[in-house]
Amino acid sequence: MPTSIERDLHMATGDGENSYTKNSRVQEIAMFQIKPVLEEATREVYTSVLPRTMVVADLGCSSGPNTLRFVSEVISIIARYCKELGLPHNHPELQFFLNDLPGNDFNNLFELVNQFEKLTAKNRQGEALPPCYISGLPGSFYTRLFPGQSVHLFHSLFCLHWRSQAPEGLKGTRKTCQDKGDIYITKTTSPSIVKLFQQQFEKDFSLFLKLRYEELVFGGQIILTFIGRKYEDVFSGESNHLHGLLGQSLQSLVDEGSFEKEKLDSFYLPIYSPSIGEVVTIVEQSGQFNMNHVKLFETNWDPYDDSESDVVHDSVRSGVNVAKWMRAVMEPLVASHFGETILDRLFKEYAQRVAKHLDKEKTKLAVIVLSMKKVI
Ligand SMILES: C[S@@+](CC[C@H](N)C(=O)[O-])C[C@H]1O[C@@H](n2cnc3c(N)ncnc32)[C@H](O)[C@@H]1O
Repeated sequence: MPTSIERDLHMATGDGENSYTKNSRVQEIAMFQIKPVLEEATREVYTSVLPRTMVVADLGCSSGPNTLRFVSEVISIIARYCKELGLPHNHPELQFFLNDLPGNDFNNLFELVNQFEKLTAKNRQGEALPPCYISGLPGSFYTRLFPGQSVHLFHSLFCLHWRSQAPEGLKGTRKTCQDKGDIYITKTTSPSIVKLFQQQFEKDFSLFLKLRYEELVFGGQIILTFIGRKYEDVFSGESNHLHGLLGQSLQSLVDEGSFEKEKLDSFYLPIYSPSIGEVVTIVEQSGQFNMNHVKLFETNWDPYDDSESDVVHDSVRSGVNVAKWMRAVMEPLVASHFGETILDRLFKEYAQRVAKHLDKEKTKLAVIVLSMKKVI
C-alpha cells in the first residue's frame, strides 16, 4: 500500500494558470544559482569515471520547464567539455532518469520531453551534442530506485525538504492550545513536536544517503538543493513564516466555519527545513560521502521580485505571486485533506496575509546547496 504522501503529494498538474508548469520560477532561480556547482560535479564525474554511457538521475523532477532545463544543462556541459578536450565528436551517451512520486503529472512531462527531443534534434544539426535517452521513473526517493552502482550523477532541486511522511509520532495526537493552527514549526510550537519533525528529518535524510550510496558508481556525485534554515535556532526559520502563514489562513477558515477544527488538528505538513549544521552532521555521521561544496543562498519569496533591496515595493502584488507558487506546490496535498472547495478562499486569504507580512519584513527563503562524492 502506498503511504498517503506517495498517493497525495504532487505538484499542481497540467499547464493551466494554477499549474506547477506555469508557477515554478522560484525553482528556476535556484537552478540558475547552482549552475557552477552542476558544471563542476558533471566534469569531475566524467573525468574520473570516463563512462561510455553516463547515467544521470533527477530526483523529484516534477513536470515543468525546470526538468528539461536541467537535462539541457548537462548535455551542454558535456558537449562543451568534450570540445575543450579536443574530442567534439567522441561524446559519452547520456541516459537520463526523471524520477518523481507516482502521482506526478508524467503525461505532461512526457509531452515536454517530446518537444524537447524535437528541438534538440534540430540543434544537433548545427552543433555536436551527445546522444541522449530520457525515461520517466515513478517511485519515492526514500526507496531504492536503481540497481547497485549504476548511477553517475544524482541531482535533486527543491525536494529534500519534503519528508517521507508527516512525523510518525504526530499521528492521532490532538493539537494543544499552544499548537493551535500549526501545520509546521512556528515560534510557539511545543518542543516535543519540534523534536518529532527533527527526528523525521534525521531518519529520512540518513536513509536517502544510504540508498544513493548503494546506487552510485565509485566516483559518482550528488547535488542537492533544498529549502533550509539560515540560523541554527529551529524556531527561527524563514520557511516557518511561509508555512506559518498558511496555517493561520487555514485557521481563519475554521473560525469562519468553513470546515471542522478537527480537520486542521490532524494536518501537519510533511516537510522540514534543516540548517547547514544539521545537514552536515548527518552527512558526516553516514561516513559515505565527501562534501565538495555546501552553502546557503537566499532568494526573495516573490519570484518576480528581482530587487536586492530590503523593501517590498508592491506587497499586494508580491502576496499574490507568493500565493500562486505556494498553491502550485501545496494544492493537491491540501485538497486531499480539506477538499477542493476551500482552495480559492484559502489562497486568497494567504495572499493577503503574505502581503501584510512583507509590509513589515522582507523575508527571504534560505536555500541550501550541497554537492558530494561517494567515498571510496
Ligand atoms: C517543488 S517540486 C520541484 C520540482 C523540480 N525539481 C523543480 O525544481 O522544478 C518538488 C518535487 O519533489 C517531489 N517529491 C517529494 N517527495 C518525493 C519523494 N519521496 N520521491 C520522489 N519525489 C518526491 C514532489 O512530488 C515534487 O514534484
